[in-house]
Amino acid sequence: MSDYLNKLKQTADFLREKTKRTPFIALVLGSGLGNIANNMSNTLEISYEEIPNFPRTTVKGHDGKLIFGELGGKDILAMKGRFHFYEGWDMADVVFPIRVFKLLGINNLFLTNAAGGINTQFRPGDLMLIKDHIGFNADNPLRGENIDELGPRFPDMSHVYDRDLVEIAADCAIRLGLDIRRGIYSYTKGPSFETPSEIRALRALGADAVGMSTVPEAIIARHMDMTVLGISCITNMAAGVLDTALNHEEVIETGKKAEKRFTALVTEIIKSWD
Ligand code: HPA
Repeated sequence: MSDYLNKLKQTADFLREKTKRTPFIALVLGSGLGNIANNMSNTLEISYEEIPNFPRTTVKGHDGKLIFGELGGKDILAMKGRFHFYEGWDMADVVFPIRVFKLLGINNLFLTNAAGGINTQFRPGDLMLIKDHIGFNADNPLRGENIDELGPRFPDMSHVYDRDLVEIAADCAIRLGLDIRRGIYSYTKGPSFETPSEIRALRALGADAVGMSTVPEAIIARHMDMTVLGISCITNMAAGVLDTALNHEEVIETGKKAEKRFTALVTEIIKSWD
């Protein structure tokens, strides 16, 4: 067995032993969206430092802990602080937690992120259900020897984001009286924001939003046949859409402003996720 697979199993064993829980959904919280965890009940928090083999977060606005608890009447695991390629992690580290979640017995992955709006109809603060992604400019997290125990060498990516769940999530937004967008999320490695020309190119390819996460995690989850849903919070218009410079503070600020709507929607979706 590979050393990497051994580590995954060791980490999953640690978490199983410590929590004695098998959450129904793993919820990955994006930049500025971490406070949703405050709405969870019956929580058990484990900081990344305590978890064997886990990487550590380095980004401001990302805390670095797993929170086991209940939200929307379901047992979930919230991941506060994800790992990004731009921090210097190998893709194997970026996706390590997602693989651990699967080994813990979790089959549902709810990915959230902050993203720049490429679609000019979008506005900062909008919430977008991810219909599909453009990620071929990312290093593929499955590169290297395949771990047959986790999934096939050439996994299908025809329906990364579960189509039924996208409809269920859209109905949830309607029930809450929230406007909701649907669109294509495109990945960039970061950490520099994109140039206006890069954004025009991504728009021409069909992208509605752009961000520096989510795609590696979604690919890894589909490799292991997990059910995936993704929501982007549009925190800023992408480079060149407006004549203003982009900055990380704005991303965090807008995320915070959208927090109430975001929390309500995520909770409602979890309630409706069967
Ligand atoms: N580009 C890339 N990633 C992002 C952006 C952006 O404009 N906003 C939030 N994350």
